[in-house]
Amino acid sequence: MAQYARQLEFFQGTAMRPMTWIGCSLVALLTAAAAMAAQSVPSVLKSPADFAGIADRNERSLALFAEAGKVIESPRCQNCHPVGARPSRGDDMPPHLPLVVRGADDNGAIAMRCATCHQVANFAPAGVPGAPKWHVAPVAMAWQGRSLGQICEQIKDPARNGQRTLAQLHDHMAHDPLVGWGWHPGGARTPAPGTQAEFGALIAAWIQSGAACPAP
Ligand code: HEC
Ligand code: HEC
Repeated sequence: MAQYARQLEFFQGTAMRPMTWIGCSLVALLTAAAAMAAQSVPSVLKSPADFAGIADRNERSLALFAEAGKVIESPRCQNCHPVGARPSRGDDMPPHLPLVVRGADDNGAIAMRCATCHQVANFAPAGVPGAPKWHVAPVAMAWQGRSLGQICEQIKDPARNGQRTLAQLHDHMAHDPLVGWGWHPGGARTPAPGTQAEFGALIAAWIQSGAACPAP
């Protein structure tokens, strides 16, 4: 009996302590991650005037794009520009639940169309975000896991950006309702930084200064 108790004690000693330790470190890690996420989500955008002092045109263009990148890299945009078949959701971007896939036309599988759940506006009672023509960006326009330099090159490339000129690219960024949803996402989602108008102004100034891309 005593031996059994000792064995049990031994078992608990080895099995429980690492578990507790893992539990504590997980909590610590998650807290640290949450703190970092909170810090890395900027809420304001600088204006093109803030960059006017950069004399070198290329340097100015790069600085303007880095500022616009705060929007491009926000979860509000990234969730809908996935590399694989599934969009992601929320500020920490786990895969979309319920399980939905882009399907043949980026509007969902036949029985799980995006528009079945996503209306033309946010639906607060069910917490479902919405905007006109809600669907996932085509694979050619995937952004997740890519650097700002890689995204910059692909959004300028007509073969990958939906045959858009730079002027049309600006128009899309400044006026498209799916892009605009990023600043009015509803629920507890963090809006994209600044406003869509400020973002549009940065993109316009970036194009005017030569649309330079950071190294990939
Ligand atoms: C609900 C999904 C959704 C959200 C949210 C979304 N997009 Fe998109 N995005 C799309 C779809 C779909 C297309 C393709 C539409 C087309 O080509 O007309 C697209 C295309 C684009 C393009 C065209 C060029 C390219 O290569 O990607 C840009 C630029 C873009 N989105 C920017 C943004 C930005 C910036 C945000 C966040 C503020 C955003 N999107 C949020 C779905 C979304
Ligand atoms: C069966 C219902 C349903 C279908 C179909 C559906 N969704 Fe959703 N979607 C939801 C719900 C509910 C949420 C809110 C969940 C959350 O954010 O916690 C959501 C959230 C999202 C978000 C998260 C936005 C953000 O930034 O947090 C994106 C992006 C999205 N859906 C894209 C799509 C796309 C693209 C399709 C079609 C391929 C689609 N959904 C199909 C129910 C659905």
